[in-house]
Amino acid sequence: MILMKDIVREDHPILRKIAKEVPLPPSKEDVDILNKMQEYLKNSQDPEISEKYGLRGGVGLAAPQINIQKRMFAVRLEDENGKKYHYSLINPKIISHSVEKAYLTSGEGCLSVDRSVPGFVLRHARITIKGFDVDGKEIKLRLKGLPAIVFQHELDHLNGIMFYDHIDGNNPFSVPESAIPVER
Ligand code: NI
Repeated sequence: MILMKDIVREDHPILRKIAKEVPLPPSKEDVDILNKMQEYLKNSQDPEISEKYGLRGGVGLAAPQINIQKRMFAVRLEDENGKKYHYSLINPKIISHSVEKAYLTSGEGCLSVDRSVPGFVLRHARITIKGFDVDGKEIKLRLKGLPAIVFQHELDHLNGIMFYDHIDGNNPFSVPESAIPVER
């Protein structure tokens, strides 16, 4: 199982690289990696298991964060209506997005960042994302609110982008009036 020691932190160069496309259908090795990433998120959200193994709770994990330079990520969260978003995506791509922006009112965090970085991260309020599941089947999702933000955060990891790259250091909490605040 993936533990905190397996997660690379922000000074690691892989977090700044562009991850590579994954050949389809995915190899057994790639499927195993994705399943392990999804399992980490599940474990990290279980009070007993996370306590036992010292796991920091997370809703998303991208392959570069476990030092694998491949375009894959896992997300595991619920939206405000209790709808579950448990996805393991290969070669994800945003195929369309709103002009409207949104941001998490609590700011963002990351399993690879051991500090809190104050500031709002502007994201697309709505996205349509396409990718492939572990069976190599195409998946297309329309997302808004928290799920849209989490998927964009994870996709950024595949392009060497950290959430705080989006924060304006001089004005970390300044966002356009039209941007939608999203609570977690
Ligand atoms: Ni992250």
